[in-house]
Parts: sequence; structure tokens; C-alpha cells
Amino acid sequence: MHGFGLREETGEKPRGHGENMQTSNSTLRLFKNKPPTTDEDEDASQAGVNKASKGGIIYGDYLQLDKIVTAQVLQSELKGNKIHDEHLFIVTHQAYELWFKQILFELDSVREIFISGHVRDERNMLKVNTRIHRIVMILRLLVDQFAVLETMTALDFFDFREYLSPASGFQSLQFRVLENKIGVPDNLRVPYNRRHYRDNFKGHDSETLLATEKEPTLLKLVEEWLERTPGLEVDGFNFWERLEINIFDGLNQEKEKIEKMPDSEEKEEMMAELVKQKELFTSLFDEKRHDHLLSKGERRLSYKALQGALMIYFYREEPRFQVPFQLLTSLMDIDTLMTKWRYNHVCMVHRMIGSKAGTGGSSGYHYLRSTVSDRYKVFVDLFNLATFLVPRHWVPKLNPNVHTFLYMA
Ligand code: HEM
Repeated sequence: MHGFGLREETGEKPRGHGENMQTSNSTLRLFKNKPPTTDEDEDASQAGVNKASKGGIIYGDYLQLDKIVTAQVLQSELKGNKIHDEHLFIVTHQAYELWFKQILFELDSVREIFISGHVRDERNMLKVNTRIHRIVMILRLLVDQFAVLETMTALDFFDFREYLSPASGFQSLQFRVLENKIGVPDNLRVPYNRRHYRDNFKGHDSETLLATEKEPTLLKLVEEWLERTPGLEVDGFNFWERLEINIFDGLNQEKEKIEKMPDSEEKEEMMAELVKQKELFTSLFDEKRHDHLLSKGERRLSYKALQGALMIYFYREEPRFQVPFQLLTSLMDIDTLMTKWRYNHVCMVHRMIGSKAGTGGSSGYHYLRSTVSDRYKVFVDLFNLATFLVPRHWVPKLNPNVHTFLYMA
């Protein structure tokens, strides 16, 4: 207990910055009465044993750095015209791909927890949340990482661009696998040159992509989990029916209040707003309309899952719903950050190549700009739920039984 023991011994008060400049008696005692600056001093910073000399795996071997740090082959150099910035271009892409790999690793483990049914044990939700949150943190890094590549100018890029054609991020297998596994549906993708995104891939890669289109997506798994939200049971708490009754009672009471007001422009505006609100909520409780929006891709979650999500929003303070609420928030973060990634990427592309066609064969900037869209937002329903939030006193009160039930996992 060096540091703390010292003060007890000397009875000294903690020192300010200036005082530390002088070597105090207590410091001398710490260094066994020798001044700490002499060369032959056995300074604590030099203590330790060189374990590497005793065998076992060492840093470079463990990380297989021989493969990683020798994987930067500059096409410009091979062609006899070495361009400095191509090194940064390669390292940046490699760093992105490594992080994509980590994201997929986390995502697969989360999907496995859902697929194996382990999520039914609610204690596993913490693990799900932690890993999804980790994905969010990585995406945050990836969104910002473009700034480093942007230190390259358009002219610098122009100097070596011809050497890398027809290579393009378009052919990033991991990026497409990621989109598929989260739940970007094939029919909502923006085609390029009227072609299918999979046309860029051949053989094993193409099969891998096809397989990921068929596997349960994160969206599908979350949907099934939401459908089981406790409290939705028609023969139990019956949240949905109670909510419908409360909302329309609430709207009718509002209407009565407005009707009692003296005629004015304000009264007309309030009435018009109320009519809009009624239409909005009528649509929320209309299952057929929901199915229609589903078929158009404007909603992605089943009707039951949407009810579960809204229930979690309203009762997020109940202990049993706190972790699920955090999960829904992180899922929106993923969508937001993927959108920001697309946006930052397209801004950089615009700056680097203007509106020239991409090396991968798309129209470039114009194609990429059209992907910054809600079509690619997998959890779009969770965002839209905010439209249906109502005053707290309209939310069905939990009776003591349900309350206890929601209190305990
Ligand atoms: C100078 C820098 C960059 C330029 C000029 C550029 C340009 C382009 C262009 C024009 C496309 C459209 C496809 C095509 O026709 O080629 C594209 C797609 C793509 N790029 Fe980049 N890119 C750059 C950096 C990056 C980086 C650092 C990554 C990181 C992995 C990346 C990943 C992707 C991905 C995943 C796509 C497919 C996007 C989609 O189809 O939604 N790009 N890029």
C-alpha cells in the first residue's frame, strides 16, 4: 500500500501541483531514500520480468501481424507510379472491413441467442443488449472514420483511381451480409443500372449472400420476441383493447371541451387537429391498413409486434421492460448510424469524384444518394411509434396483478 500508506505515515496533506516539484521526505522514503532521478536507480517503472524470453506466444504471432501489415499492396507502386495516398486508401478500407467482421460476429451471437430460444430466459436480455450496444459503438466509430480518408484530396485520389478499377466497395461481401442479417429486404434495395445487387458476386460469395437472405434476420427475431410481450394477451391484461378504449375516450373528452369554446379561429384549428388525431389513431387500430402498409414496405413489424413495441414504450419504467426498452433504443441507433454511414460516405464520394460513374458500375453519387432513405431503415416502425404516443393519463393503468407480474421476471 505504497501511495496511501505514505500519507498515513507522514501525516501530510495532499499536495498541490507546485509543491510536487520539490522532492519531499516522504517521496525519498518511497524510493528507499535515493533521489529518483539518478541513472542507476531501480525505478519502479523499470520493474518486471521479460516473460517473452520464457516462451509462449508473442504479440506479433498472436495477432498474425505478418499477414495484416504486409497486406497493403499499392497498385500504383506495382504499375511503377507510386502514389502516397493509396496507402491510406487501402488501410482505411481494411480497417472498415475488420470492424464489419466484428459487427457480424456480435450480430451472429445475438441472433443465435434469439434462434435457440435462450431469450425466453429474460436474464439473457442483458447479454443481447450489451452486444447490440457494442455494435452501436463500433458504428459510431465507422461513421467518424471517413474524416481520416477525407484528408486525401480529389486530385490525389484521381492520381491512382484508374489503377483500382473495377474494384469498388460495391463488392464488399461483409457489408451486404450485414445489411441482409439486420433485415434490409431485397425488394426495397435501390437497383443500380437496373441490376440486382447480387450480380456483383460470383460463386461461393453469391451463395453466401443468398443464404443470408433466407436466414432469420435480426428484424424477424425481434418481431417474434415483441409478439410475446407480456400483457398483450387478449384473455389477460389485453393492452391493445384497453389502449384503444382509453384513446378514443380521451379524444371524445377533448372534443367536448373544444365544442364548449366560443367560436373562434383557434377553436376551428383545434377541431381540425382533433379530426387529424382521430384519423391517425383509427389507422393505428386498423389491422387491414397495417397489412397494406406492410405489403408496401412502409411498415416492417407484424401488427402484434407493433403492439408489443408500443407497450414497452409506454411502460418502459417497469423493471421488466427497462432492458427491452433499451434494446429498442439501440436498434434505432443502428438504423440511424447506418444512415449516417451512407450519408458520410456519399458526401465523401461527391467530393472525390463529383458525379462521375463509380468504379463498380453504378451512377456513383446519384445512386448512393438514393440509398440514404427510409427504404434501408429496418426498424422504421420503432421511429414511427413516436407518432402514436399519448398523454400519460390515457395509458391503461396496470392493475396490481399485472403490475406485480411486470415487476418480476
Ligand atoms: C475515396 C473514397 C471512396 C470513393 C470515391 C467511393 C466510391 C464509391 C462509389 C462510387 C460507390 C457506388 C458503387 C460503384 O459504382 O462503385 C461506392 C459504394 C460503396 N462503397 Fe465506397 N467509396 C470510397 C470509400 C469507401 C470506403 C472507405 C468504404 C468502406 C468500406 C466504402 C464502402 C462502400 C460500400 C459498402 C459501397 C456499397 C454501398 C451501397 O451500394 O449501398 N467506400 N463507393
